[in-house]
Amino acid sequence: MRSKIVAGNWKMNLTFDEADEVLDKLMTNLEEHAALSCKMIVCTPYPYLELASDYSGDSYFEVGAQDVSAYDKGAYTGEVSAAMLGSMEIAYCIVGHSERRAYHNESDELIARKVDRLLENDIRPIVCCGEVLEEREADKQFEVVKRQVTDGLFHLTPEQFGKLIIAYEPVWAIGTGKTATPEQAQEMHAYIRSLIAEKYGKVVAEETSILYGGSCKPSNAKELFANPDVDGGLIGGASLNADDFMAIAESLK
Ligand code: 13P
Repeated sequence: MRSKIVAGNWKMNLTFDEADEVLDKLMTNLEEHAALSCKMIVCTPYPYLELASDYSGDSYFEVGAQDVSAYDKGAYTGEVSAAMLGSMEIAYCIVGHSERRAYHNESDELIARKVDRLLENDIRPIVCCGEVLEEREADKQFEVVKRQVTDGLFHLTPEQFGKLIIAYEPVWAIGTGKTATPEQAQEMHAYIRSLIAEKYGKVVAEETSILYGGSCKPSNAKELFANPDVDGGLIGGASLNADDFMAIAESLK
């Protein structure tokens, strides 16, 4: 059975004190509510990883980063390596987010190298894919996602691929309040799973968690998560509010 996952992507938000407040509230919520039926991951900016790890301890939620260098180590000012994250016992890292693709010109080839660095350091990549609005309007969404998945990930062995979490995030739905319909999400998730099955076989495909991201909130999470190929969510804005994030996680059964 593949895991059900709700992951928060804080992006470049919150001061240290604000981060502390959100984590504190999240812990209170987790302690007060019945155990979740999904895994919860919180992906914070680098400076807050240790704070989040201290809160999470071993049990409540897991901590992830939002990006990683494609290089091993050395003279790459400002970069953070997978080995550094691994040495802090960070278990997850987002790669290939559309904001990195758009604002930092990240290519599928670069994303493939980042995935490799993470896997070498036993960190599970949360790999994002998704089309922009013009591509959806031109009915090119399947072509675009196929290229992203194939060029970014299909160099991996089946065993390596099994460590991945995929996130489908239609770019037109990110931070816009415009969510994909449950049908659009299901259609793309089923398509991604079929690509994986074609390349790695049915077992690997059935075991891969595919999350939906893009304006997911407490009011729409349940109907998105009800789809058979939607295994949870990658949550941006709503993950900055501990009550909303908790409500989203609780709607994933
Ligand atoms: P929003 O939930 O703010 O739309 O962001 C989604 C996202 O980009 C998560 O990675």
